[in-house]
Amino acid sequence: MSVPTNRDSFGSKFGIIAAAAGSAVGLGNIWKFPYITGQNGGGAFLLIYLFFVLLLGVPVMISEFTIGRRGGRNVFGSFKALAPGSPWYFVGIMGVVAAFVILSFYSAVAGWTLEYIIKAVTVGFSNQSTSELGDAFTNFLANPIRPIVWQLVFMVLTAFIVAGGIKNGIEKYNKFLMPILVLFLIILCIRSVTLPNASKGLAFLFKPDFSKVSIKTILFAMGQAFFSLSLGMGALITYASYFRKSDDLGRTAVNVSLADTFIAILAGTVIFPAVFSFNIEPTAGPSLVFITLPEIFSHIPLGNIFGIIFFVLLAVAALTSTVSVLEVVVAYFAEELKISRKKATVLASVSIFILGIFASLSFGPLDRFTILGKSIFDALDFLASNILLPGGGLLIVIFVGWYLKKSDLYDEISNSGSLKARYFPVYRFIVRFIAPLAIAAIFIYSVFFGSLG
Ligand code: PFF
Repeated sequence: MSVPTNRDSFGSKFGIIAAAAGSAVGLGNIWKFPYITGQNGGGAFLLIYLFFVLLLGVPVMISEFTIGRRGGRNVFGSFKALAPGSPWYFVGIMGVVAAFVILSFYSAVAGWTLEYIIKAVTVGFSNQSTSELGDAFTNFLANPIRPIVWQLVFMVLTAFIVAGGIKNGIEKYNKFLMPILVLFLIILCIRSVTLPNASKGLAFLFKPDFSKVSIKTILFAMGQAFFSLSLGMGALITYASYFRKSDDLGRTAVNVSLADTFIAILAGTVIFPAVFSFNIEPTAGPSLVFITLPEIFSHIPLGNIFGIIFFVLLAVAALTSTVSVLEVVVAYFAEELKISRKKATVLASVSIFILGIFASLSFGPLDRFTILGKSIFDALDFLASNILLPGGGLLIVIFVGWYLKKSDLYDEISNSGSLKARYFPVYRFIVRFIAPLAIAAIFIYSVFFGSLG
C-alpha cells in the first residue's frame, strides 16, 4: 500500500484539534442541540446524550481516524487502498454523496445566519413584537432571492478556505476562528446566567426528569451524537488522512468529543436561562434561535450587541463545519479525477450550490413540491441524517471491527507500538459488537419511523 508522499498535512496538534472540533461544532451544537434538548425533557436527554458520546461517539471517531490516516487519501481512495479489489470503496462513494447532500441544505441554514447578522447590525431587534419577529423570519424564507444570495455568499466563503489547502487554508482559519467561537460563547453564557431567574433554565438543563424519557428520546440522543460529532460520512476520515504519523488518534478523538460536548452544553447554558428568564416555552423547535432569541435580545440592555455576537458565533460555527464537508468532495475530485485543488473546489462548490438552490427554494416558490411527502429541504435532511450517516457509520464500524486485521488496527492506533493504547481491547469490543448493534437500531428506527435529526 503506497501512501502519496507529497500530500498536504496539518502542522500542529492544536491545528488538528481546532479543525476536527471545528467540523464537529456547528449548527448541530448551537441550533439543533438546544431545541432537541428542549423538546426531549432537558437534563435527562443530556445524560443520555453524554452516554452515547462516550459509548459510540469516541469509538466511531477513532475508527474514522484509523481509516483516514492508514488509507492516506480521500474517503473513497482510503477504502480502496485498505481493501483493494473489494467493494468497500462503496462506503467512500456514500460518504461523498452524503457530503453533497448535507452541504446543500446545511449551507441554506448557514446563509440565514448571515441575514441575521446584517439584521442585527442594521435594524436590530428592539421594538418588534414576537409576531413581527416570526413574520420577518417566515417572509425571509419565502423570498425567492435573498436566502439564495446568502447561501451563495456562504459557499464562496467556504470554498475560499478550502481552496487554500490544509495548512494554509483549513488549519489556519480553524486556529483563528475556534478561539473566537469559544470566547463569544463564554460572553453570551455570562450574560445569560446573570439574567433574573436564570437558575430555572439551568435546572431544566441539568436536573434529569426521567419521566420524559422514551425509546424515541434514546434514539434521538444517539442520532444527535452522530450528527454533532460529524460521524458517518467521512469528514473525519478525510481530515485524518492529513494527520501526521505521530499523532495520537485515541487522545485526539477524546479531546474533540469533549470539546464538542462542552460547546453543546455551553450553548444550552446560553439558551435555556434566557428562555426561562422570559417565561418562554423551551420547546419551540427549529425556530428557537431565529425567533425566540431575537425576542429576548429585544428586551435586554445592549440586546443588539448580544444579537450580533450570537449570530456571528452561529455563522462561525457553521463555517468551520461546511469547510470540513466541502473538503470531503474536494479531496475526492482532486485525487480521483487528478485535477488541481482549485479546480476541484470550483467544481464541487458550484455543483453543490445548484442542488442547494432547490433546498432554499423549498421554503418559498417550491414549497408545494414534495418528495415522498417531504419538502425538498426535509427530504435532503432525511436522506443524509437518517439514511446516509447512520448507514455509513454502521459500515465504518463493521469495516474496522471485522475487515481490518487486528494487528493492523493495533499498529495504527498505537503508532506502531510507540503508544500503549491500553484501551484497545475495550475499543475493539465496542466496534465489533456494541456499535454495530446500536447503530443498526437507529438506522432501522429512522428509516421506518421517520425524522430523527
Ligand atoms: N457536526 C456538524 C454540526 O454539529 O453542525 C455537522 C456535520 C459536519 C455533520 C460534518 C457531518 C459532517 F460530516
